[in-house]
Amino acid sequence: MESGSDIRARTSAVISGVGSYLPEQVVTNFDLSQVLETSDPWIRSRTGIRERRRAATGQATSDLAVEAGRRALSASGSDQADTVILATTTPDETCPATAPAIASRLGLEGATAFDVSAVCTGFVYGLAVGAGLIAAGTARRVLVIGADVYSTIINPADRSTAVIFGDGAGAVVLRAGEPGEAGALGPTVLGSDGERGDLIRIPAGGSRQRSTKRSPLPEEQYFSMAGPEVYRQAVARMTEVSQEALRAAGWQIGEVDRLIAHQANSRILDTVSDRLGLAKERQLSNIALVGNTGAASIPLLLDQAVTNGTLRAGHKVVLTAFGGGLTWGATTLIWPRVTSRSAA
Ligand code: UT7
Repeated sequence: MESGSDIRARTSAVISGVGSYLPEQVVTNFDLSQVLETSDPWIRSRTGIRERRRAATGQATSDLAVEAGRRALSASGSDQADTVILATTTPDETCPATAPAIASRLGLEGATAFDVSAVCTGFVYGLAVGAGLIAAGTARRVLVIGADVYSTIINPADRSTAVIFGDGAGAVVLRAGEPGEAGALGPTVLGSDGERGDLIRIPAGGSRQRSTKRSPLPEEQYFSMAGPEVYRQAVARMTEVSQEALRAAGWQIGEVDRLIAHQANSRILDTVSDRLGLAKERQLSNIALVGNTGAASIPLLLDQAVTNGTLRAGHKVVLTAFGGGLTWGATTLIWPRVTSRSAA
C-alpha cells in the first residue's frame, strides 16, 4: 500500500488559471518629460519603456490584486482556493499582511493567507512556496498573486526610478496534479545575497529606522535603487539561475520556446537572452506598455501573452526573476491549456 509520503512525492503544483489587472491611468514618457528632466528618446533607448500605468488616488495594492485574483480563479473554472499568497513590496499596511483581506474580499473564508516579501522576485518565490504547500498536502488550490503599486513608494523627483516603475497585478491558480502534466512546475531554483541589500531599499518605516526614534527624512521613505550595479546583477543572476533551472529540469536551451523574465529593462532582457543562447523572438516582453511592475511583472506578462496568443499550450517555458534583497529565482514548465478572463 502507498504511504502518504509516496503519494505526496507524486503531487505537483499545476497552473490552472491566469489573470491580471491594470489600473486605467496611462502615464507616457512625454507626460514624465513635462515634470522631470528626462525625454522619450532617453527612456525608450535606455529601458524600452513607452508608457506605464498608475493607480488612482486611494487605489491600494489589494484593490488591484483582488481583480487579478478574481480573473485567475474564473479562468481556472472554480472560484475556490484554500490558500492565498500575495507577493508585494507595497502592502496596504505594514501590519497586518494584505493577503487575508484579499482572501476575504474574494469570498475565500478561512483560507491560509500571507504575504511574501522578495521584491521583484516575489512572484517566483510565491510560486515555490505554493508548490511546496501542495507537495506537503497542506494545500490543494493556491492563488498566487503578484501586485505592486510602485507609484506609492517612488520619489516623483527621482528620474532614475520614476521612469521605470508602473503599477499592476497578475495572478495564477495552482492546483494539485501529476508531475508529468502540462502546467506542472518543474524544479525551482531560488537564491539571495543580503550583503547587497543596500542596492535596492526603502530605508524608513521599518524597525531599524523606528528604533532610532528619529523622524525619517522625506527621501528615506522612498524606494532607492543603485541602477547600474543592479543592472549588472540582474543580468548575471537571471542568466545563472535560468541555467540552473534548465539543468535541474534536464532541458537544453535549444528546446525552450518562451523565456518569461522579470521585465526590468529591455536591454537586460536582451542580454540575458544572448548569454543563454536563446533566439530573441523566444523572449516575451510587455515592458514597453507597462514598465517594471515589480512582483506583478511575470504573471501580468503570462496573462497578456495568453490573451494575445504569443504563449500557447505545449510551449516549453522558463520563468526567471531578480529583485531587491538581492533575490533571484527560476523555474520551468510546459505551458498548459488555459484561457484568460482578463480584459485586454
Ligand atoms: O526590478 C528590480 C531590478 N531593477 C533593474 O534591474 C533595473 C536595473 N537598472 C537599470 O535599468 C538602469 O540602470 C537604469 C534604467 C535605472 C539607468 O540606466 P543607465 O543606462 O544605467 O543609466 P545611468 O544610471 O548609468 O545614468 C547614465 C546617465 C547619467 O547622466 P551622466 O551622469 O552620464 O550625465 C544619468 O544622470 O543618464 C542620466 N539619467 C537620465 N537621463 C535622462 C538617469 N536617468 C535618466 C532619465 N532621463 N530618466
